[in-house]
Amino acid sequence: MTASTPFQPAADPAFAAQKSAQAAAAAPGASPVIELRDLHKAYGPLEVIKGVSLSAPRGHVVTLIGSSGSGKSTLLRCCNLLESSQAGTILFEGEPVRWTGPARERRPADRDQLRRIRTNLAMVFQQFNLWAHLTILQNVMEAPVTVLRQNPAQVEARARMLLAKVGIGDKADAWPAQLSGGQQQRAAIARALCMEPRALLFDEPTSALDPELQQEVVRVIKDLANEHRTMILVTHDMRLAADVSDHVVFLHKGRIEEEGPPEQIFRTPRTDRLRQFISATMPS
Ligand SMILES: Nc1ncnc2c1ncn2[C@@H]1O[C@H](COP(=O)(O)OP(=O)(O)OP(=O)(O)O)[C@@H](O)[C@H]1O
Ligand SMILES: [Mg+2]
Repeated sequence: MTASTPFQPAADPAFAAQKSAQAAAAAPGASPVIELRDLHKAYGPLEVIKGVSLSAPRGHVVTLIGSSGSGKSTLLRCCNLLESSQAGTILFEGEPVRWTGPARERRPADRDQLRRIRTNLAMVFQQFNLWAHLTILQNVMEAPVTVLRQNPAQVEARARMLLAKVGIGDKADAWPAQLSGGQQQRAAIARALCMEPRALLFDEPTSALDPELQQEVVRVIKDLANEHRTMILVTHDMRLAADVSDHVVFLHKGRIEEEGPPEQIFRTPRTDRLRQFISATMPS
């Protein structure tokens, strides 16, 4: 393996320049929305997260990359407590998650805190997960009305605005099955945004889509990055990772093998494992 540049990520140089100008303008040491310290997670005897620390500062995009099975989805799900973890600290806006139960069988102790964290870290999944029996508008309105108990008329106005923002304002009354994959994923992003969360967690949001539909979703994610939304993004799309990230974390077998700004990760990777990974995932 040579140390030569394995990947030129500048798929969208204008966007990358804009993004790095924003990063420079962002307050250094912006406070983290979510922070993990020395997190450990096992499924029975299988330890899949082996002491990971990471931080998603407000207004930043942190991207997790790594091979299949390296623990990316698990780590993302630990952030919003969809998965339990056995050891380590999780902080939401500086507030440590409080735990109860015996060591290594801990669970969140405070239901209000759990609810606050879940509703403020909205997740977008690979498979969209829209409710098939609800229209697109109803899908977007559902959680703010039923979980947050917000005023339906106000939620509807916000939902329509968000559907227009992601380019599917004309699909409000359609059923999910009547939309393309790219449109469904944009509806799922509008649904996440309608919660007005503190951060968005994306788990491979473009992986289930045909290449031309991926670009519709990539465009929306870039717009959100431009708006300084706090995001943690899991993706196999290295161009997207290179374009939108402030910080890239390369996971290998449940540990952080290497991390840094996208220019370093993609242009001057330091470890053989990362060099190999980037070569293997480089678009042809
Ligand atoms: N519910 C589960 N029960 C047992 N093992 C699991 C479970 N979910 C994930 N694992 C294991 O945990 C490890 C990490 O899985 P994870 O889904 O986090 O990987 P990933 O990096 O997201 O992979 P991919 O890129 O394929 O989505 C794998 O070894 C996987 O088999
Ligand atoms: Mg995964």
